[in-house]
Amino acid sequence: MAEVCLSGVWKAGPGEVGQAVSAALKAGYRHIDGAWAYRNEEEVGKAIHESGIPREQIWLTSKLWNNFHAPEDVEPALDESLGKLGTEYLDLYLIHWPIAFKKEGNNVLDVELTADPYPTWKKLEELVDKGKIRNIGISNFNIARIKNLTANPLKYQPAVNQVELNFFNPQPELLKWAKDNGLVLEAYSPLGSNNQVKETLSVPEVQAIAKELNITPAQAVISWHVQRGTVVLPKSVTPSRIEENLQVVALPQDAFEKLEAAAAAHPPKRVVNPSQGWGLGFDLFEDEW
Ligand code: A2P
Repeated sequence: MAEVCLSGVWKAGPGEVGQAVSAALKAGYRHIDGAWAYRNEEEVGKAIHESGIPREQIWLTSKLWNNFHAPEDVEPALDESLGKLGTEYLDLYLIHWPIAFKKEGNNVLDVELTADPYPTWKKLEELVDKGKIRNIGISNFNIARIKNLTANPLKYQPAVNQVELNFFNPQPELLKWAKDNGLVLEAYSPLGSNNQVKETLSVPEVQAIAKELNITPAQAVISWHVQRGTVVLPKSVTPSRIEENLQVVALPQDAFEKLEAAAAAHPPKRVVNPSQGWGLGFDLFEDEW
């Protein structure tokens, strides 16, 4: 997969997301990162359809929600996403979280499928063979959980792991491990998401490098992500920012190293961690399996 700049549609609300996807496709984006849980797949599908861009020129991702990990629930969940998106296949389908809930339960943990995601994965492999998905991957898996999955005799290895990566949570160990093991990382909340974007873009090193290179702070941060070797999923519903975020540059090595050092210079601060909100009783990013 190429190191490209992409359009994420998480937290883009109804009425907003269609115009954001249209603006992104018009600006030249060809990768749309969505999910069943974002509850906007119909609008995303409509905008893709109305763009007139042939389906095969677009890389379309969706994600399997936590309530549908039981093997018999996987294909119906995928079919629902395909139907809403108005497409016959996905380029990439991810297990959204390494946490399985009972189908009907309100965040009731399915302990077995959380401890052992292989039955879910086997079903996804079948759906690749059926032609409904081109690639399968994972999201929000820490190293222990990845190893727990890949210790099984997989027919298809995870193509990517989509995780939070940003200036305040750069995860250098996970990035190194992924590179060493041939796993592509996709960066969500690359600008620090809604609540940390201002702080991120005000970091003195980010500001200085942007000024030096005559680019915007967001372009400096996105270029840093690309240069780290990740696939970047910036989210914006603002057409001018959508265009801005696609203009990445090759950072001089010393500028890249300055940003990498500045990102590592403080204790990591994760933006997204639903462990408490889901009442898990453990931190899904910290635990060992
Ligand atoms: P908006 O969607 O209103 O344009 P992340 O990609 O880390 O999830 O960050 C998303 C947040 O960053 C949103 O609040 C988004 O605002 C904002 N954002 C996206 N691109 C830019 C940019 N180029 N400059 C400033 N803020 C941006």
